[in-house]
Amino acid sequence: MDKLIQRFFSGLPVSSLNFPSEALSLEGQMTLLNATVNSDLVLKQPLRYQYQKAFLKRLLNQLESLDLVVFEGLYSAYVRLVQMPHQLGSKSFNHYRVGSGGDVVTLIEDENLISQGTTGLRTWTGALALSEWCLNNKDLITNKTILELGSGVGLTGLVACRHCHPQRFCFSDGHPEVVKTLAENIKLNFPTASAVPSSKLRLDLEIDKTTRVSLMNLSWDNIDCTAIAALGKIDFVLAADVVYDPELFQHLLNALKMADGECNIFACTERNPDTLNLFLKEAVHSFRCIELSCPEQKNFTWEPVPLVRIFQFQRKSN
Ligand SMILES: C[S@@+](CC[C@H](N)C(=O)[O-])C[C@H]1O[C@@H](n2cnc3c(N)ncnc32)[C@H](O)[C@@H]1O
Repeated sequence: MDKLIQRFFSGLPVSSLNFPSEALSLEGQMTLLNATVNSDLVLKQPLRYQYQKAFLKRLLNQLESLDLVVFEGLYSAYVRLVQMPHQLGSKSFNHYRVGSGGDVVTLIEDENLISQGTTGLRTWTGALALSEWCLNNKDLITNKTILELGSGVGLTGLVACRHCHPQRFCFSDGHPEVVKTLAENIKLNFPTASAVPSSKLRLDLEIDKTTRVSLMNLSWDNIDCTAIAALGKIDFVLAADVVYDPELFQHLLNALKMADGECNIFACTERNPDTLNLFLKEAVHSFRCIELSCPEQKNFTWEPVPLVRIFQFQRKSN
């Protein structure tokens, strides 16, 4: 049941959710309801109402098809959701549980893969795999300065900042609406962080004595070198699902060269092998490309197809 709850919280498609038999007894239904739709977290920061209704509907359909007694509370919860006012726009919350200590990263996200002319308002598979990679490689991140390119709504960086203790983590993205949502998500997850005085960055926060979190507007095709330089020495760059548009490959590789990190980690969902191969072919001129094994799914869940591939790009010495 725990896996099911985890998948619900992160808003994975309802069609991919299966209800285990323990969730179908009267007591199981009550436990599931209280841990999902009726949980304090979801009541306070709701997932899309449409999504929650679809979740309950799938459960009700399954119970009815098996001719099982339905817990009354499921109907009440469904009716409550039907009566909810229409959610403004298509943004809502998703919650990602990380580790066994009960930590939750909460993100404002859009329900659509493409919205307002950008792909960045929703968490992509690459970010889930890269977050898992960070948790498996904490020692590489601790005390390091990291720049993330194309951060989107920010899952990877927030997981890294909360669990891997970088000295500085700088989120970046090139789309104004994404940067705005990213700023909201950073503040949402670090409500007590203090702003670094007189910083010129979009956001610059000290989340504790050892970690500083920054956010900059950074377009690969119009790079602000002074902003990158202001970060000081960057140890490495992280990026998830940014390899999809061949027209941007040279810009993306230039950004990587400018950041000048010794090694860089990209998580790439292989939707089109030709596109990814083309990027690798261009990257190999300046970087040594090494494929790493994709981490096992422990904290995060994603579909096995299309494949997520993790690459390390090591700077070649001149
Ligand atoms: C597919 S999304 C991935 C977002 C996030 N990394 C994830 O995996 O959930 C690609 C991201 O790259 C950003 N992006 C696309 N073109 C860009 C450019 N030229 N400069 C900077 N960011 C760009 C988009 O705004 C978007 O946030």
